Amino acid sequence: MDVSELFQQPAGMAYFDSAATSLTCTPALEKMQEYYRDYRANIHRGAHRLTLKASDEYESVYGKLAHFFQADAQEFTAVRNTTEAVNAVALGLEWSKGDEVIVTDIEHHSNLLPWLRLKKQGVLVRILESDAEGRLSPEKLVSVISKKTRLVSFTACSNVLGGTIPITDLASTAKKAGALVFVDAAQYVGHHPVSLKQWPVDFLAFSGHKSFGPTGIGVLFHRKNVDLSPWFVGGGTVRDVSLSDYNLLKHRERFEAGTPPIAEWLGLGAALDVINQIGYSVIQSHDQKLIAAMLRVFQESPHVTLFGSNQAEEKAGAIFPFSVKNVPHHQAAVMLDQLGFACRSGHHCAIPLTKKLGVPGTVRASLHVYNTEEQVTRFGEALKTLAALS
Ligand code: ALA
Repeated sequence: MDVSELFQQPAGMAYFDSAATSLTCTPALEKMQEYYRDYRANIHRGAHRLTLKASDEYESVYGKLAHFFQADAQEFTAVRNTTEAVNAVALGLEWSKGDEVIVTDIEHHSNLLPWLRLKKQGVLVRILESDAEGRLSPEKLVSVISKKTRLVSFTACSNVLGGTIPITDLASTAKKAGALVFVDAAQYVGHHPVSLKQWPVDFLAFSGHKSFGPTGIGVLFHRKNVDLSPWFVGGGTVRDVSLSDYNLLKHRERFEAGTPPIAEWLGLGAALDVINQIGYSVIQSHDQKLIAAMLRVFQESPHVTLFGSNQAEEKAGAIFPFSVKNVPHHQAAVMLDQLGFACRSGHHCAIPLTKKLGVPGTVRASLHVYNTEEQVTRFGEALKTLAALS
C-alpha cells in the first residue's frame, strides 16, 4: 500500500502537526466533491431522486461507523467535533446536586470545561492525577472514585503528551463503581482501533479532522441504554409537533437537529474507508518506526527537553512535546517553520497540564502515517541548527 498516494503533502514542508489536525485524505476530498457536484440535496426531506441519493449516502456512513467500531448504527450521532460531543453529554445528562465527575489532569480543555461548568448545578469535579510523565493508573482512580461518582471522563491519548493510557482498565474500574464512562478518542482513532463491543464505555467521541477526514464533523457514540436529552431540538428530530408541544423521534434521530454537515459526514465515511484500506496494523507499525526514530533524535539533542515518557512502548500517539534551551516555544516553532517543519507551539489547549510541566508552553511535533523516517532525520538536523542559533 503506497500511503503517499492517499495524501497530498504540503509543498516544501514536513507536516509535523497532525495532533492539531491531520492531512485530509484524497478520497475524502473526492467524496465531498462528488456530493456537491452530483447529488447536492438536503437529506430526509423530500422524495426526488437527488434527496434520496444524498440520504442513502448519508445513512451509509452510520453503517460504516457501526462496522468500524463494532456497535449499533443507532448509537452514533453526527456532531461538529469532539468538543461538541463532550458538551452535548455534559448538557444532556440529568445532574443532581452532589453528583461527582472525575476527569484527569492531562485533559484538553474540551474535556474539562464542560464538566467544570456543571459546578453551577452543584456537581463536584474531582481530579485523577497523573504521574510526572503523564501516566494514569486505575489504582489511583480507585482512591478518587466513590458512590457519588456519576461519570469518569478521560482521554484515550493526551494531545500534549501522547502517552499510553490504560483505557479499558480505567473504564472497568469506573464501571465497577457504578459510574458512566466518557472517552475522548480524538487523538486515538487515527492511530489505533477501538472496539465498542469490548470497551466498557458509555460515551466516546472523536473528530473527523484528526482522522484524515474534513473539519466540521465529529462523532458522538452513546449507548442506547443511557438516557441523554438532546442538546438542540428542531427540524429532523420530531415525530409530531403542535403549537404547544412536540414529540421527539427515538434515539439517534432526536439528536441531529437541522441540516447536518452532509458533505463532511460523507467525507468522514471516506476517511474511515481509508483507515481500513491502509489498515491499523500498518499505521501502528509505521508509528512505531517513527516514534523510535524521534526518540533517538531527542536522545541525541541535549539542548532539548522532551516532556512525557521517553519509552517507545508508552507512546500511543506519535506526539512529542519539547522545549529548546534558551529559545521560547513560539520562536522555536517559527525557526522550525523556516527550516521546513510545521509544529504547533503553545499550551495546546491544556493549560493545567502545561502548568504542571512547569513551562509557559511547549513546541509539539506530532506525526502520522504519511510522515517518513527521512523527515525525522532532517528534523534532528533542524534541532541541531536551532541549538547553534540559540
Ligand atoms: N486539539 C488540537 C491540538 O491539540 C487542536 O492541537
